[in-house]
This record gives sequence, C-alpha cells and structure tokens, in this order.
Amino acid sequence: MDKVELLKQQAGIAACKYVNSGMKVGLGTGSTVKYTVIELGRMISEEGMEIVGVPTSLATQKLATEVGIPLVELSDCTHLDIVIDGADEFDPEFNLIKGGGAALLREKIVAQEAKAMVVVADHRKQVDTLGAFPLPIEITPFSFEATIRQLSRLLDCRVNCRMSGDNPVITDNGNYIADAHCGPNLSNPRNTEMEVLKIAGVVQVGLFNEMCDAVILANSDGVELLVNQNGRLAE
Ligand code: 5RP
Repeated sequence: MDKVELLKQQAGIAACKYVNSGMKVGLGTGSTVKYTVIELGRMISEEGMEIVGVPTSLATQKLATEVGIPLVELSDCTHLDIVIDGADEFDPEFNLIKGGGAALLREKIVAQEAKAMVVVADHRKQVDTLGAFPLPIEITPFSFEATIRQLSRLLDCRVNCRMSGDNPVITDNGNYIADAHCGPNLSNPRNTEMEVLKIAGVVQVGLFNEMCDAVILANSDGVELLVNQNGRLAE
C-alpha cells in the first residue's frame, strides 16, 4: 500500500470511534470512506456491533452489502445519528467541496438528515480557500450545454461536462456532472452555493456549507481530529 493509501486507511478507520451500537449511520462514498465501511463491517462481524447503514451511492451500497452492513432506506429513518464521508477539499470553516466521485446529490441528501457529519481525509484536502479542486455540479442531461454556459457565465470560469471516454459521466440519479474550474477563490461558498442553485438545470452543487462537524485528518505524523467549534460535536 502506498503512503497516501495508508493515510486514507488510517483516517477511514479512525472515524469508526464515532459509531456505537444502535446507531443509524450514513455511509459516504469514495476511496477514503471505503476504509470506514470495511472497518464497520469488521466491527459487526467480529465485535457484534449492531448498526444499520444508509449508503450515499450504488458503489457504497455494493461495498456495504459485501462487508455485511445491514442497509435501510433513508425514507424509512426518522433521522441518522451520523454520516461519515470523504471530501475533495475543506476550508478553515469546515466548508467542503464534494462530488469528485459524482455522488454529491445523494451525499448531501443523506448529510442533511444526519445529526452529525464527520469527514475523513488526508492532508491534501486541507485548503485555505476552496476552489482549486474543480467544483462538481450535478445537472440535468436536458440541454446540458446551455446549463454549462450559464454556469460558466456565473462563475466566470471554464466549466466542463465530466466525461468517461466519449460519453458524459452519468450519476446514480441519471444526471450529468459539470466541473467548474473556479480556482482557489471561493471565499464565500454560501453565496456561491445559493447563486449556482438558482440556475435552472442545476440539480445540486458540491458545496457542503455548515454541515461538517469534524474532520479526521491523516498526515505523516498520524491522525488528527479537527473539531468545528461551531458544530454539533463541539464540547
Ligand atoms: C464523492 C465524494 C468523495 O467523498 C470525495 O470525492 C472524496 O473522495 P476520496 O476519498 O476518494 O478522495 O464527494 O462524490
């Protein structure tokens, strides 16, 4: 396992300390939180922990099933105790860019139902200002070129339709992803989120503002817990 992979694994496993028997747990998507899902499966089979999970993508649904996490529909839950997920970037106020794995819509729906959100990340995701990572925006396939033009005008940057070979990437919800190359200048992500959501054709934007309560951050010195002092896990 290479160095970055090891950091992802450390962060992913460390997040499991927030999960206790009886909890309803939102299961994020990506190569870091994958390790959380695998560890939760181990805790169920080896330690008898009893939880149910709500996956944020078809990929996570498949993995969670493989490792033996009982799954339920979000609509059947009155709430979730916690969601654990990855991020593409987080800023000092714990605002996030997500959607690198094209799962942002389900991730946001699940996160807004959770009593707490814990992000697992390696040090490359920590930034002063969001935006170096192209901002993922889920858009409708209908007239997507027009929606992309609107986004490009609004954000004043290049916006690409995410491709897989010659075809647009299709999300679990049957939509496309536009990636906005804003640059590291999203200093008011709340405003950007609001403005982007006003455009017809936009389904959801990968800015997760005021949702994240803590980041479990892995770097070469080990795993660090960063708690959002304005969040729900602050003492
Ligand atoms: C998927 C996401 C992921 O959580 C994000 O892209 C981080 O993934 P990784 O841990 O693989 O870097 O938002 O839509």
